[in-house]
Amino acid sequence: MMGRVAGKVAIVTGGASGIGEACAKVLAREGASVVVSDIDREGGARVVKEIGDAGGKARFLEHDVASEARWAEVVAAAVAAFGGLQVLVNNAGIGVGGLCESFSLEDWRRQTAINLDGVFLGTKHAIPAMRASGGGSIVIMSSGAGLTGAPGMSGYCATKGAVRLFAKAVALEMAQLGDNIRVNSVHPGVIDTPIWTKVTPETRAVFGGAAQGNAVDPAVLAAAMAPLGKAGMPEDIAMGVLFLASDESRYMTGAELVIDGGATAG
Ligand SMILES: NC(=O)c1ccc[n+]([C@@H]2O[C@H](COP(=O)([O-])OP(=O)(O)OC[C@H]3O[C@@H](n4cnc5c(N)ncnc54)[C@H](O)[C@@H]3O)[C@@H](O)[C@H]2O)c1
Repeated sequence: MMGRVAGKVAIVTGGASGIGEACAKVLAREGASVVVSDIDREGGARVVKEIGDAGGKARFLEHDVASEARWAEVVAAAVAAFGGLQVLVNNAGIGVGGLCESFSLEDWRRQTAINLDGVFLGTKHAIPAMRASGGGSIVIMSSGAGLTGAPGMSGYCATKGAVRLFAKAVALEMAQLGDNIRVNSVHPGVIDTPIWTKVTPETRAVFGGAAQGNAVDPAVLAAAMAPLGKAGMPEDIAMGVLFLASDESRYMTGAELVIDGGATAG
């Protein structure tokens, strides 16, 4: 199959929804074989079916990114199914808001286990498989909230800032080892995905006027935050991920790709 990532094998975590779903579809459309990993079985099965219907290659693996044992299995299964591993999109994440002084340690740890431990574990387990496959590209989904602080989002910002520097440190490590493995972070602004419908009441309170019923309206939020005046779409992020996953970005490592409608430019 022709395409910008033809012949590559990719794992996309959190691939059952939103940005991960778009990444899985765009990578498959451009010729990669994609493992869609997620805790959401139904969503994962839907995405894999849609990729197959469009002529792409994908399979779903149920996967909690906070589990190290499961990471070892998922990487082994990807290699067994498709013959190697060249791309890892560490995308799975949650956003839990609330004032620092009232934030529970339980929520802090739950969010950190997915957003930070999950990224560490995925990167750790992907590296040997990528090395054995001749090299690869690790893409880490950070956030605009990994570049600038946001009131009421200190726990989330802590995880997204942490993965930003984690990416740079591992990028340097890989460069030093000469393994042809690149590591970069992506920083989305307000993107219209289901994440905004999964927020706790405390998180809704953080977003004030953009909170609508049980959700936060990304359009209202983006109108206030993004100079381009609207929320981004999941595909807007997937196109950046495609570039980082492909050999077109072969001279890029330890870098930050900001896709936020200008939100952090000022
Ligand atoms: N949507 C935005 O505005 C935005 C902005 C900046 C960064 N991000 C980041 O982009 C990433 C994707 O977000 P999204 O907006 O697509 O969210 P989403 O909620 O639409 O999708 C996230 C997916 O991750 C999965 N997931 C949750 N916990 C998991 C776990 N423990 N193991 C495996 N999968 C798990 C969910 O089931 C879901 O399918 C996240 O890391 C998020 O922090 C999103």
